[in-house]
This record gives sequence, C-alpha cells and structure tokens, in this order.
Amino acid sequence: MDAAFQDALKQTVAINVPRAHPPMPAPVGAQEIIRTRGLGKSYPKGPAVFAGVHLDIRADQRVALIGSNGAGKSTLLKCLIGLLPSSEGEIMTLGESFHAAPTAAQLQRLRCQIGFVFQNHGLVSRQSVLTNVIQGKLGLPGSWRAWHHSLADSAWREEAMQVLAEVRLADKARARADELSGGQAQRVAIARALIRKPKLMIADEPAASLDPAVGRDIMQIFSDLAREHGITLVYTTHDMQHALDYSDRIIALKAGKVFFDLPTSAVSLRDMDGVFHA
Ligand SMILES: Nc1ncnc2c1ncn2[C@@H]1O[C@H](COP(=O)(O)OP(=O)(O)O)[C@@H](O)[C@H]1O
Ligand SMILES: [Mg+2]
Repeated sequence: MDAAFQDALKQTVAINVPRAHPPMPAPVGAQEIIRTRGLGKSYPKGPAVFAGVHLDIRADQRVALIGSNGAGKSTLLKCLIGLLPSSEGEIMTLGESFHAAPTAAQLQRLRCQIGFVFQNHGLVSRQSVLTNVIQGKLGLPGSWRAWHHSLADSAWREEAMQVLAEVRLADKARARADELSGGQAQRVAIARALIRKPKLMIADEPAASLDPAVGRDIMQIFSDLAREHGITLVYTTHDMQHALDYSDRIIALKAGKVFFDLPTSAVSLRDMDGVFHA
C-alpha cells in the first residue's frame, strides 16, 4: 500500500469517529437552512484549515463569505453541502444532519435541493446552451433523459427555456456553449442551477473571472433570483463591494476562525480591512 493511500485511509477512519464538541441544539423548524457546531477541517498532512466554526443560516438570506486567498472559503462551502468530508463537528444542511460526510442517501437528497455555480462555469463547450441547462437535471429522478435535449421531454425543454429567460438568455438557447462570452456562460451556469428548483444556491467566486460591469450583472441576477424565488444564497467573493451590495449578511473567515458574522448593514469598511490585515 503506498503512503498516500495509507494517509487517505487514516483520514477516512478518523473522520468517521465522532469527537467531543458542543451539543447540537434541537432543530427549530424548516426555516433553518444550514447549521454547524464545532466544525473543523484539515486535509491529510496539512494543518487545520478552520476549526470551531458555528454557523446558523436561515432561509431567504443572501450570505457573502469572505476571507483572503487560502482562508478556507471553498473548503467550507464544500463541507457544508457534503462534497468534502469535514474532520470534526456537526453539520445540518436542509434538514440532513451529519458528522464528517453525509450518507449516500443524504447526499442524494441534498443534491436535489442545491444549485451550484463555480468560478469556471463548467459548461460542456461543444453542446448547446439548451442541453447544458437541461443537464442541470442530472442527479434528479429521471435524469438519465437529460444527457441530450432530444431525449428530454418537452416539459423539460420548456423549463429550460423559462430559466434561460430568467437569466435573459433565451435568445441563445441554440448557440453552442463555446460561442458565449464569459458573462453569458456564467448566466447559463446559473440557469443550469436554477432548473433544479433549488432551496439553496451555492456560488464559489461566481464573478471572479468577469470584468467589473459583467461581474456586477451576474451578482445582480443572483440577488434577484434569490429574492424572487426565496432561494437562500451563499456565495464567496474577494470583491468587497460585491459582498456589501448583494448580501444580507457577511461571514468573514480569518486564521481558521469566523472573524465576524454580521448583518451587512452593520459591516464597515474598517471591519472588512481587518479581515485581510493582521
Ligand atoms: N485538495 C486539497 N488538498 C490539500 N490542501 C488543500 C486542498 N484544497 C485546499 N487546500 C488548502 O486548504 C486551504 C484553504 O483553501 P481554500 O478552501 O481553497 O481557500 P479559499 O477558497 O478561501 O481561497 C489552503 O491552504 C489550501 O492550500
Ligand atoms: Mg476558493
């Protein structure tokens, strides 16, 4: 057995052992979307990325997660939605409670309720915009039909056209994904997440590779969709103006801890500065 595999195995065993942490309060109703207690994460051989993270995110909030490069924003997002096992503590996301990693059944239920958008939109470049959007249905019941739009029933195509209209891109439905500008591609990525009718939308640096005007446009679309559909939005950004303008709440990570967790209206530029400087 090589050393890397042995390490991975140790990590897997370690993460499955519940550790001492503050007790998780009983659920307080459907409005709570994400709750963590004593959440910590280390990668094999690495130091802790973060530890002792307690979060309570309620429905309909738009939450900006900020912190310098390497602060652990992407890692935290992935742990919250079960894409990456955490090392300690407890997580409840959309009613699914787990230590470390969700079970396969929990992960399946989570996937059905969560839309993801990442910095690199991840579209299939040689396929049409419509096909890319319909592929957002993958992982949902009956999803085998989504591989190509000609196999999807007309109801799905109609849904895809509706979500494309919501991101103001209906006129590009037949275009190939690789013919789009960066902003248009990111709008398709949003439509692909939206077709899942998510309760929770997770976006990791969704505007990072776009020019300023297009970046604001993308953040505005997210913000409007979250309001109109009652979707809880959790996004990371390194643009402080995006954090201030498109969130109800800002959570800052620094040195492996939650540095502050405040309503956006209570966050000053000085607070923001403190996140990035010693
Ligand atoms: N797959 C990985 N294996 C080992 N270390 C990782 C991995 N992904 C991220 N890290 C480390 O974890 C820390 C947090 O990374 P990340 O969550 O990507 O931060 P952010 O998104 O805030 O820039 C960094 O020190 C990074 O090097
Ligand atoms: Mg990141």
